[in-house]
Amino acid sequence: MNILVINGPNLNFLGIREPEHYGTKTYKDLVKMIDKNANRLGVKAECYQSNHEGEIVDKIQSAYNRFDGIIINPAAYTHTSVAILDAIKAVNIPTIEVHISDPDMRDEFRKVSYIRQACIETVKGLGFDGYIKAMEDMKEYLINR
Ligand code: DQA
Repeated sequence: MNILVINGPNLNFLGIREPEHYGTKTYKDLVKMIDKNANRLGVKAECYQSNHEGEIVDKIQSAYNRFDGIIINPAAYTHTSVAILDAIKAVNIPTIEVHISDPDMRDEFRKVSYIRQACIETVKGLGFDGYIKAMEDMKEYLINR
């Protein structure tokens, strides 16, 4: 079972940016935690981070026929990107949307997710643990589908 974990803009600044929303652990810590839990669950996880919308679209397209599931935190592009929505629809790979904070409890503009309609689930407000839940739920989904 191959899972691609994509993180969008500014998530490389985890640990530095707005700790009141995103905590004090770094992106490197996040990747370590994902690797550890992938081992525990017996799945393969590849982590990718980019600050660029087109690169994220390219990465999603490159997952076609290579990955069984995608876990994505599109960060700010959640609220703007039809291109990322269309890429997820195009490859038709089961996708789970993750947010470290709960965007629905923050600014009005964060309540809109362009991505959500293409996702089998949204996990939000659980901090880094949200990625673990997404991995567990993805494994379960792929086994049972
Ligand atoms: C985020 C929430 C988004 O609104 C924000 O733009 C981010 C991170 C989260 O993980 O909580 O960059 O996706």
